[in-house]
Parts: sequence; C-alpha cells; structure tokens
Amino acid sequence: MKKTLLICMVTAALVCAFALPTLYAVDAPGDMVLKAPAGAKMTKAPVDFSHKGHAAVDCAKCHHTWDGKAAVKKCSAEGCHVDTSKAGKKKPESFYSAFHAKADNSCVGCHKSMKKAKAKTGPTKCGDCHPKK
Ligand code: HEC
Ligand code: HEC
Ligand code: HEC
Repeated sequence: MKKTLLICMVTAALVCAFALPTLYAVDAPGDMVLKAPAGAKMTKAPVDFSHKGHAAVDCAKCHHTWDGKAAVKKCSAEGCHVDTSKAGKKKPESFYSAFHAKADNSCVGCHKSMKKAKAKTGPTKCGDCHPKK
C-alpha cells in the first residue's frame, strides 16, 4: 500500500518535471555563452550556460517577468538589470545581481542554497563559471 503511494508520487513528480516546459509556446535555445551587454566593460571571462542542464527548473523561475507567451527578454533588457556600473553592483537593477544576488533565481543564489541543502547543483566558485583564460 505504502509502496504504491510512493510510486504514484514519484511518477507525478516526474510528469511535472518533464511536462512543465511544454506548457510554454517558446522553445529554450541551446547552449549559450553569456556576456555583459554591449558597451559594458567585462572584467571576467564569459560564462557557459545550458538550458538542457536546467530542464528541471521552471522557465518562469529564471525568466521571472515573462508571461509565458511573449518573446523572452534578455536579463539586461530596458527597465530590467541595466546597471553595469561597479558602484551599482548591489542594487537589484544591476546586471551583476541578476546572476549573483542572494535570491533563489540568480545563478549563484540558487546554486548556493541548493548546495546548503546538500542537493545536486551547479558551481558556486567564481572560477568555475568564469574560467581563467
Ligand atoms: C536556470 C535559469 C533559466 C531557466 C530555467 C530557463 N532559462 Fe532561458 N535563459 C536563461 C538565461 C540566463 C538566458 C540569457 C539571457 C540573456 O542573454 O540576457 C536565457 C535566454 C533565453 C532565451 C533567449 C532570449 C534572447 O533574447 O536572447 C529564450 C527564448 C529562453 N531563454 C527561453 C526559455 C524557456 C522557454 C525556458 C523553459 C523551458 C527557459 N528559457 C528556462 C536562463 C534560464
Ligand atoms: C533555480 C535554480 C538554478 C538557477 C537559477 C541556476 N541554476 Fe545552474 N544548476 C541548477 C541545478 C539544479 C543544477 C544541476 C543539474 C544537474 O546536473 O542535475 C545546475 C547545474 C549547473 C551547471 C553544471 C551543469 C551544466 O548545465 O553545465 C552550470 C555550469 C550551471 N548550472 C550554470 C548556471 C548559470 C550560469 C546560471 C545563471 C544564468 C544558473 N546555472 C542558474 C540550478 C540552478
Ligand atoms: C554560477 C555561475 C557564476 C558564478 C559562480 C559567478 N558568476 Fe559572475 N557572472 C555569471 C554570469 C552568468 C554573468 C553574466 C555574463 C557575463 O557578464 O559574463 C556574470 C557576470 C559577472 C560580472 C560582470 C561582467 C564582467 O565580466 O565584469 C562580474 C564582475 C562577475 N560576474 C564577477 C564574479 C565574481 C567575483 C564571482 C565570485 C565571487 C562570480 N562572478 C561568480 C555567473 C557566475
């Protein structure tokens, strides 16, 4: 009895994890190399990012202003994470905070909180995302 329930729950979880992305009309692009927006000075190496490697994460977690239908905006789009100044780094509208803030939808924020919870996750050290050239 207990075993059947467990199998049901695991199946439901798997269905959710894999069926969720198909709810959206937009496809996620393949592997990307993330860079600072044009005009901003880059002090670190560009970062590899794989949508496939994050298939278990809901699109709207990262694309947190997206309605699921319109075109997906870049993180640095107008009115979003536009501040690329060093002084503005800590502000929520900074480019830096989109990827490093202590929020569970930033790269570093999510990886760190999952690591703390001892779950399998991505890198948390600077050099593991920004490889030294
Ligand atoms: C773990 C975070 C994360 C998840 C989950 C995620 N994405 Fe993305 N996605 C990104 C990042 C980061 C970019 C690059 C944004 C940029 O260039 O500013 C991106 C870029 C995109 C782009 C290209 C936007 C452009 O104009 O260049 C599309 C389209 C997109 N994602 C769709 C999706 C869809 C659909 C899903 C769900 C199936 C999804 N993403 C899930 C982080 C994520
Ligand atoms: C909401 C949580 C979450 C966010 C946000 C997130 N990740 Fe991850 N990331 C994960 C998890 C979970 C894994 C482990 C997936 C696995 O291997 O099962 C992972 C794995 C990775 C890996 C190693 C595997 C691979 O796909 O190459 C890299 C590199 C990575 N993440 C980079 C990023 C970058 C860059 C961003 C921001 C643009 C980001 N992640 C945002 C949860 C997240
Ligand atoms: C999980 C991956 C990840 C980790 C870990 C990470 N970053 Fe980033 N970082 C990114 C992404 C994605 C961007 C946006 C794309 C870009 O600009 O390369 C970025 C951008 C930056 C930028 C702005 C662009 C530039 O090149 O100047 C700085 C500065 C930066 N990171 C510094 C750091 C430092 C310092 C650490 C360690 C404390 C760190 N990052 C750790 C993913 C990461």
